[in-house]
Amino acid sequence: MKSVIEYIEKNHDRYLEELKEFLKIPSISTDASHAQDVKNAAEYVGQQLQKAGMERVEIFPTPGHPIVYGERITNEEKPTVLVYGHYDVQPVDPIELWQSPPFEPTVRDGELYARGAADDKGQMFIHFKSAEAYLECGKQLPVNIKYLIEGEEEIGSPNLNSFIDSHSDLLKADVVMVSDTTMFARGVPSICYGLRGLVYFQIDVSAASTDLHSGSFGGVVANPAFELSTILSTMKDDHGRITIPRFYDDVRDLTDRERQEFARLPFDEEAYKKDIGVKQLSGEHGYTPLERLWTRPTFEINGMLSGFTGEGAKTVLPARAMAKVSLRLVPDQQPETIEDLFEDYVHELAPPFLEVAVTRMHGGKPWVASLDHPALVAAAQAIQKGFGKKPVFQREGGSIPVVATFAEQLDIPSVLFGIGLPDENAHAPNEKLDLGNFYGGIRSSAYFLDELSRTRIR
Ligand code: BES
Ligand code: ZN
Repeated sequence: MKSVIEYIEKNHDRYLEELKEFLKIPSISTDASHAQDVKNAAEYVGQQLQKAGMERVEIFPTPGHPIVYGERITNEEKPTVLVYGHYDVQPVDPIELWQSPPFEPTVRDGELYARGAADDKGQMFIHFKSAEAYLECGKQLPVNIKYLIEGEEEIGSPNLNSFIDSHSDLLKADVVMVSDTTMFARGVPSICYGLRGLVYFQIDVSAASTDLHSGSFGGVVANPAFELSTILSTMKDDHGRITIPRFYDDVRDLTDRERQEFARLPFDEEAYKKDIGVKQLSGEHGYTPLERLWTRPTFEINGMLSGFTGEGAKTVLPARAMAKVSLRLVPDQQPETIEDLFEDYVHELAPPFLEVAVTRMHGGKPWVASLDHPALVAAAQAIQKGFGKKPVFQREGGSIPVVATFAEQLDIPSVLFGIGLPDENAHAPNEKLDLGNFYGGIRSSAYFLDELSRTRIR
């Protein structure tokens, strides 16, 4: 191990340069005008996997963006790790708020700024470099390794489940390694053992067939913006609880043990509020912030559109209104069940004079793992060696739907080892990655392969 770690320490600058090349590719999956860039990013991943010594590298086309696969099988007797990551990134708007251009990676104060630095190019890169380090040192990999790197995570992975279904033999593994979450805080390395799920909708409502003069018609014709707001505001009560009938039926109660574990984590509510610029936190009564974030479902309005929003004033009664809304789910809520309940409820709340269309967008299942899997023990050891600190175990409020798929479709446990920080602006302007964590991540990943080789897993 010593030579591998020494090799990693000597190659920091090269790793940074190669990651920068990756980050220069604007692989925005939701934007059709970037389809070629997304393809180029897939190619770059393929080259990196080749460079990391993979004996088989394949780029699988899908109806959407390609899936990159790589593998090196060294010894069938040894455990196999499947590394999952995504090379697509979120859009960059509002672009004017970036201090340096999103696709011109720039280092300031030990942080690498670029879209995708944390989510997820920089994070997954650590697992390319750890494998490469073994081979560059003239060592065989201590375990078998496979990579599954997709280009559609940020748009809900529409083609991934069917790929996994039809390639279950190819993807056979003992453990999945994912670096696409965050550490609990700076200096507090973490393993994440729970994610929320998601269902997402667009709601379109209309009344009259055209916009109307609000003086000539206001008072006799319904206002879709008002009606839609009313429907949405009815979705939560004064205690922050979601009012959809039977919505909480499958929500798993928090155990006392978990409550105690969460309370032990170094959560500083004042610093947290200051960080995000809010006067006070809100949400469901009866739960602490971490409990609400990690173990309770939510209902959010992601965007609304209606009527006149330009400069000045226009007295108009809009013909239509639209909202994008989503619900984060927790174990054991099922996306399809919640979709049905939600849609029924919207129709129930809508007055008869309103035309309502509910469109289901993407979704994903929530996930929670048991903490006693030997792969988690191996990961904790590796992180301790890589960061010089024991990791804490935490859950997350975000979603990575494929993790539940791995568990259910392939029966493989996942280790979520995030090296991002909560304030690294994923999905926002000035996304960044701490370089100390990047190098610590590469070391930990190398140690993980070594620990795993000595773990009895099957
Ligand atoms: N890396 C995130 C997931 C994440 C977010 C983990 C926050 C931990 C904390 C991932 O790239 C992401 O953004 N996922 C989407 C999933 C959705 C599009 C189905 C999310 O959570 O909104
Ligand atoms: Zn993301």
